[in-house]
Parts: sequence; structure tokens; C-alpha cells
Amino acid sequence: MLSIEKYQQEFVFFLKSFQIKEEPKGLYKPIEYILNLGGKRLRPVLTLMTTDIFGGNYKEALNAALSVEVFHNFSLVHDDIMDDAPLRRGKETVHEKWDINTGILSGDAMLIMAYQLFENYQANVFQSLAKLFSKTALEVCEGQQYDVDFETRNDVAITEYLKMIEYKTSVLVAAAMKMGAIVAGASKEDQNYIYEFGRNLGIAFQLQDDYLDAFGNPETFGKQVGGDIIENKKTYLYLKAIEFSSGKEQEHLKHLYNIETNKTDEKVFAVKEIFKSTGAAKATQQAVEAYTNKAFLVLENLNISEENKLLLKEFGTSLMSRNV
Ligand code: IPE
Ligand code: IPE
Ligand code: MG
Ligand code: MG
Ligand code: MG
Repeated sequence: MLSIEKYQQEFVFFLKSFQIKEEPKGLYKPIEYILNLGGKRLRPVLTLMTTDIFGGNYKEALNAALSVEVFHNFSLVHDDIMDDAPLRRGKETVHEKWDINTGILSGDAMLIMAYQLFENYQANVFQSLAKLFSKTALEVCEGQQYDVDFETRNDVAITEYLKMIEYKTSVLVAAAMKMGAIVAGASKEDQNYIYEFGRNLGIAFQLQDDYLDAFGNPETFGKQVGGDIIENKKTYLYLKAIEFSSGKEQEHLKHLYNIETNKTDEKVFAVKEIFKSTGAAKATQQAVEAYTNKAFLVLENLNISEENKLLLKEFGTSLMSRNV
């Protein structure tokens, strides 16, 4: 096993060796740009780690890890168009730097590249990876559609929200790990348990993403703080704030999410105050912890060494205290 930092380094080294075509520049430059903007490289690291955890060699998982990261970056390019987001990893989003059409087509090409990377595997592994990938990618689209649908709905339930984030975010984290298990030739049972671990960890991850979107430090967060509030996203913070409030306070929050306003700074400030005063901010942090612990419980079922279980726990714990 390597350290998390080392897996990250190995992955980035492999990414740099990945040849992206030059022409037409309008298609390929944005791809190079987004892939080299950095990011935590969480998903590919999980793929590589999982392969080693199940007794494989992480080097054999590099193409699958790259596929997952390319798909993730594709989804970010399109997500930033859909969310009207100006900033990504501290830099201009692709559609801001170029334009929306560029973001659409470069994103499409990345989705195809992600698939193409599976061609580096033998037929049976290829089939397992491609099958998992297709299912996952469709679910991500479904999650993204729910996310957008919820912007204009006032009756979103927590259960609906949880399904939405499971699809838009956690299935990819889960699939990233399952792909590592597939490459390692792990048993079906282990493949499913590691998927379950990743699914719960991914839910915790998106809850934390919601929290940071409102309460992250603008200096270091890398995305527009308050972006979800501006877009009227029905996040866990919002849904809990509605649940925990009544009377004037609840009316005020609903009003803020139903009016068109140019005074976005004021809106963000007012909403964040309500998130804090109602206890929604605290409840979100508790939910992050609860889903992380749920993931840890799944580890008990896995056929891996105690040492490796501890490694996965450390990884999960470190995600809880992230600030980007
Ligand atoms: C952002 O993912 C999109 C979500 C699913 C929350 P990350 O937070 O992993 O983004 P990068 O790749 O590290 O920038
Ligand atoms: C993103 O969710 C999920 C996908 C990209 C599929 P968000 O919209 O919350 O991600 P960020 O906050 O822009 O990174
Ligand atoms: Mg977004
Ligand atoms: Mg989004
Ligand atoms: Mg977000």
C-alpha cells in the first residue's frame, strides 16, 4: 500500500502522460485546461487504493482511475453551465473562459474519452467496467436532473434530496471503488460491499459539499461561496432550516428562495444566518458524520486486513475535516 499522497502523485504523473490531441484547439484546449486545474483527485485515488486493498497492483488500475477522473471533470464542465458557476478550483470555469457551446462539446468529448480508456483492458474486465460505468453515468444524469428540478420546487422532501445526491455524486464515488475491486479480481461480494462503503461515503461527501458551499472560506474554497443559495438549491441546509423553523423566520427563508434578486450578497448573508440560527448548519455536519460512520460499519463485512480497513477509515475521517 502507498500513502494517499503517493497515490495522488502516481495518478497525476499518469494523467500528464495522457496524450490529448491538439486540433481542433477549440475542442481540446478546454479539456486540457480542466484536467490540469488540479482538484483533490479523490475518485482516482480511491480506485487505485481499492485495487491494492484487494491484492491487485494499482498500476493496472491507472486507466480505470483516469476514466473516472475524466468523467468527473466532464460532469463538472456541464454542471458549471447548469449551475451558472463562475469559478472552479479557484479559476474561471470552462464556459466562462470560452463559452457555453465549448463547454458542451468539450464535455461530450470527455465523456467519450472516459469510455475509450476501458479499451486498455481485457474483454471480461472491459465488459464489467463498461457495464458499471454506463449504469453510473446514467444515474449521474438522473441526479443532475432532480437537482435542477428541485430549484423550482417548494416541497422537496429529505428522502428525495438523499436520492438526488446519491445519484448525482455518491454512485460515482462508489463506482470508482468498485472499479478498483474489479481490476483486482475481487469477489462479487467484496465488490458489492466496497460499493456500499463508497455510496455512504459519497453521500457524506455531498452533504459536506453543501455545507462548504455556504460556509467555506472564499479565500481557499475555489468555488463561488453561496452559489447554491443564489441558485435556490434545495440542499440539506435549506431543507433542515425549513424543518427547524416556523412563523416569520420560515416565511422569510421561503421568500428569499422565491424572489428574483440582484442583491445576491445580501441574500446569501441572510440565508446563512437562518441556516445557523435554526441549527441546520449543525445538523448538516452531524449528517456528514452519520453517513461517514455508516460507511465504516460496512467495512466490517469486507474480506480485507484490519490494517486496510483502518486505512479506509482514516481516509473517510480526513474527508470530514476538509475545507475544499
Ligand atoms: C465536486 O467534486 C463535485 C461534487 C460531486 C461535490 P470534488 O469536490 O471532488 O471536486 P475536485 O475534483 O476536488 O475539484
Ligand atoms: C455536482 O454537484 C454533481 C456533479 C457534478 C455530477 P454540485 O453542483 O454541488 O457540485 P459543485 O459544488 O458545483 O462542485
Ligand atoms: Mg455545481
Ligand atoms: Mg450542480
Ligand atoms: Mg456543490
